[in-house]
Amino acid sequence: MGKGAANHADQAADVLAIFGISGDLAKKMTFRALYKLEERGKLDCPIVGVAIDDWDDEQLRQHARDAIGATVGDPDEDVFSRLAERLTYVQGDYEDPKTFERVGEAIGDAKQPVFYLEIPPALFATVVQGLGKAGLTENAHVVIEKPFGHDLESARKLNSELCSVLREEQILRIDHYLGKEPVLDITYLRFANAILEPVWNREHVSHVQMTIAEDFGVDDRGRFYDAVGAMRDVIQNHALQVLGIVGMEPPTGNHPDSVRDKKLEFFKAMRAADPKKYVRGQYEGFLDVKDVAAGSTTETFAAVELEVDNWRWAGVPFFVRAGKCLPVKVSEVSVFFKRPPRLGVGPGKTPEPNQLTIRIEPEAGARIRLYAKEAGEEAFQPADLQVLFERVKGEDPEPYERLLGDAIAGEHQLFTRQSAIEETWRVVQPLLDEPGPVHPYEKGTWGPEEAEKLVHGTGQWAQPWLP
Ligand code: BG6
Repeated sequence: MGKGAANHADQAADVLAIFGISGDLAKKMTFRALYKLEERGKLDCPIVGVAIDDWDDEQLRQHARDAIGATVGDPDEDVFSRLAERLTYVQGDYEDPKTFERVGEAIGDAKQPVFYLEIPPALFATVVQGLGKAGLTENAHVVIEKPFGHDLESARKLNSELCSVLREEQILRIDHYLGKEPVLDITYLRFANAILEPVWNREHVSHVQMTIAEDFGVDDRGRFYDAVGAMRDVIQNHALQVLGIVGMEPPTGNHPDSVRDKKLEFFKAMRAADPKKYVRGQYEGFLDVKDVAAGSTTETFAAVELEVDNWRWAGVPFFVRAGKCLPVKVSEVSVFFKRPPRLGVGPGKTPEPNQLTIRIEPEAGARIRLYAKEAGEEAFQPADLQVLFERVKGEDPEPYERLLGDAIAGEHQLFTRQSAIEETWRVVQPLLDEPGPVHPYEKGTWGPEEAEKLVHGTGQWAQPWLP
């Protein structure tokens, strides 16, 4: 088993304690995820909610009911009552050692607690230290969610604070993209199909493109987003994690670190990004969003070319673009193959390159774009082979359900290790140090024109594959 591996059924949690149970994430995501886990029969431990609010057990259950009603609809009463019976509440201030004594009493004899910290990152260290001083961390796992720092240095600092109490393998870092079923599909698609491997390299691939586009703005998240921007918000984490799966070597050996090890190697082979190959944009109207600083130069759109120095990918650019207020909501990655040479077939020009697209959202699926003869004409015409994953597999578990379920079950493959966090910060760090100008763009467009120039050497940004 690989170093730091932690993945046995015998690591299953005997209690789940959720700090920040009264917050927004719990309301929107956590109760819903817990309900679905209960419905699927995947919960079998008590759940302790912790927060500053003056609630009792009954109020917690009522909040759970309201949140589930708002996100899932009217709950099945049997399922809900099983869930409600698990829930108890501990009120407390995270600065106060007594809070952790009460948490200790609430979790009783539990030997393998999972502590889920749904709290601002500035409080991670305080809570972890509180848990440590109360003697609750020895066999515990602690689940945290991004941001893991805002650059390489702060990511290291946060980690060293956590590691003053915890061992690396006790920290379960959520990147919710890794809990998306369609992202897991990419690994299967790549390695369950032997026809792909021989062409999945620089001999046959000309470039790779990833797009994470959203057709809405920053809305009520002005304060958070203004301090972050598109590069930190979705590229350093979600986009690079997906590229890690697209680009990694085949994982070997059935141990929980095999995929994480291969992704880490891929990240290590990525060059630190070149600020000259980076374009930032800001949608018109961003400065009017509540809590955005006057004159802010935060990017709401970012596009970058990344390079990988290894045998498989040297010379193959990986382009990523992400942004808010773009024409559509779509998340996809496309591998473009080299053009065939001009031959004595067809209209005397070469067809467009073949393209394999994996769509994460909406309607997850995969499409291989081939070219065929247009009926009655001496011309090429796209002939697509496509599959929609959901129709094949039925209802997907949602990311938080999947990841929380994994944390409780002691399955840790989908959580990100610090080494990958640091490598991905290393890759984007030059872009944070030298961000360059931010170009305005109109809402509902594909960002500033400068982003088009970035891909000129290879063609253009692909039209997204839409349902
Ligand atoms: C989050 C970002 O991590 O990911 C958001 O903070 C973004 O700004 C979101 O909208 C995208 O993920 P999803 O799963 O909601 O499409």
